[in-house]
Parts: sequence; C-alpha cells; structure tokens
Amino acid sequence: MGNFATHAIKKAADVMGLEVRRHQNGKPWDQQFRKWIAEAETRGMDPNDLGDVEWAGDPARILEAHAAGLYDTDSVVLELGPGTGRATRHVLPRCWKMILLDYSEFVCGWLDGYLVGKGEFETHWLEHPKFTVVPDRCVDFAFAYGVFEHVELDDTWELLREIFRVLKPNGNLWFNFDTVATSGGLAHFKAERTRLGPEQRSVFRFHHPDDVCLLAQDVGFEVSHLERNENRSVWMTLHRQ
Ligand SMILES: C[S@@+](CC[C@H](N)C(=O)[O-])C[C@H]1O[C@@H](n2cnc3c(N)ncnc32)[C@H](O)[C@@H]1O
Repeated sequence: MGNFATHAIKKAADVMGLEVRRHQNGKPWDQQFRKWIAEAETRGMDPNDLGDVEWAGDPARILEAHAAGLYDTDSVVLELGPGTGRATRHVLPRCWKMILLDYSEFVCGWLDGYLVGKGEFETHWLEHPKFTVVPDRCVDFAFAYGVFEHVELDDTWELLREIFRVLKPNGNLWFNFDTVATSGGLAHFKAERTRLGPEQRSVFRFHHPDDVCLLAQDVGFEVSHLERNENRSVWMTLHRQ
C-alpha cells in the first residue's frame, strides 16, 4: 500500500478512535530496536540511552561537531533512517519541524508515539527511495547517520536525488558512509567476511568516496566537506546552491 493510502487510513481511523497496527516487515534493525525498547521498559529507561551505549555514543554529539550551524530553531530538518530516534530526540527540540523517513514500518510506528510532546514532526514510511509526500524545496537541512553504510549504490543515488529535490536552495545534507579505502575500513570489511563466511552477506555496504562525490555532483550538489577517519567512516556535507 502506498504512503498516501496508509496515511489516509491511519488518519480516518484516528478520527474514529481506532488503532491501525502496522504489519511487521522485518527490516534488519527492527529486532535490535525492539530489544532496546523492551529492556528499557523493564528498567524504566529511555531505549535510546541503551542504544547509545550499544552503538558507540550519542549521534547528536557527532552531528553537533560536524554540522553545527547548518540548522537552527527556524529550520525544517529531514532525517533519513532515524531508527529509534537516538539523534532525533536531540535535534527535534532545536528546530522548527522534523520530517522523518524510514523504510521500517516499525520505526515509523515507534517514533509516532515516542516523540509526542518533544516537538513538531511527521513520519513517513518509505516503500521505495522516493519521498512522494515531501514537496520540492521545503527542507533546510537533511541528515542521515548510520544509514548510507547500509545502502547499495543504486538506492544511494535515488536517495541523493530525492534529498536534492526537497532541499531549499542553500540547504545542506550531512551524512556518513563506509569505505574500504582506509586501513580501518578494509579491516572492518575483512572482519565481517571472516565472521559471516561466504554464505552470508554483511549488512554493511562500502563505497569509495570518489564514487559518492561523483553521484552527488551528478545530482546537482556541491561537495562542501569530505572527511575520513582511520576507521571505516567517511563524513560528507553536500550543499544545494
Ligand atoms: C543502523 S540503523 C541507524 C538508526 C539511527 N540513525 C541511529 O543512529 O540509531 C539504520 C536505519 O536506517 C533505516 N534504513 C536503512 N536503509 C534504509 C533505506 N534504504 N531507506 C530508508 N531507511 C533505511 C533503518 O530502518 C534504520 O532505522
């Protein structure tokens, strides 16, 4: 079912006081997210505090270090792949509105409840890498943390095109992805191969920074910042003129 139909049914059901339960589509991180949520409930915690411990820190701090000044309290901020909202919970109170897009129905349903009272937001489930409900040129800043490291090059290009379309002129996109073009990246890639063996694919996808730059420029972006570290991550900021 398309985004519009799903949304319309949910809205109609809300009016009638009914609950529409999203079916489980089993995206790779749903199980992990459910585990944090269940454990946090029994311990009276925020699941994202557990997530930050398991996933090496608070992504909002990294965002702050890399993207400070790219959004403010008047901004519309789009986040792709918010998961349980580890970064979202910090960005939401610091902007005017967030548009949250994820291909996991579980994630969208969870955020619809978790973020109530934390700020203005809308969630949209992505059936394909197409932001059908998001109008052209309405977003000031877009980001994706820990997402493109799992996305094939085809979808990366589709998503970059969509993000370019919805950004306002002078808008920016900040994201990270993984590469084997650093010693740490190659080591991580090989460790995954050893761990999984030839029968299984890793959830990680690796892109050369030059390839991503070429795609981004082809879509119309200017590459305003590119940074690699000794691990596997590349950080990129793209600017729409
Ligand atoms: C590894 S999790 C990271 C979640 C969150 N950004 C964080 O740091 O906790 C990847 C997230 O991106 C979403 N995702 C992965 N591939 C996607 C795609 N092609 N389109 C939309 N969402 C995607 C997943 O459902 C999940 O929420």
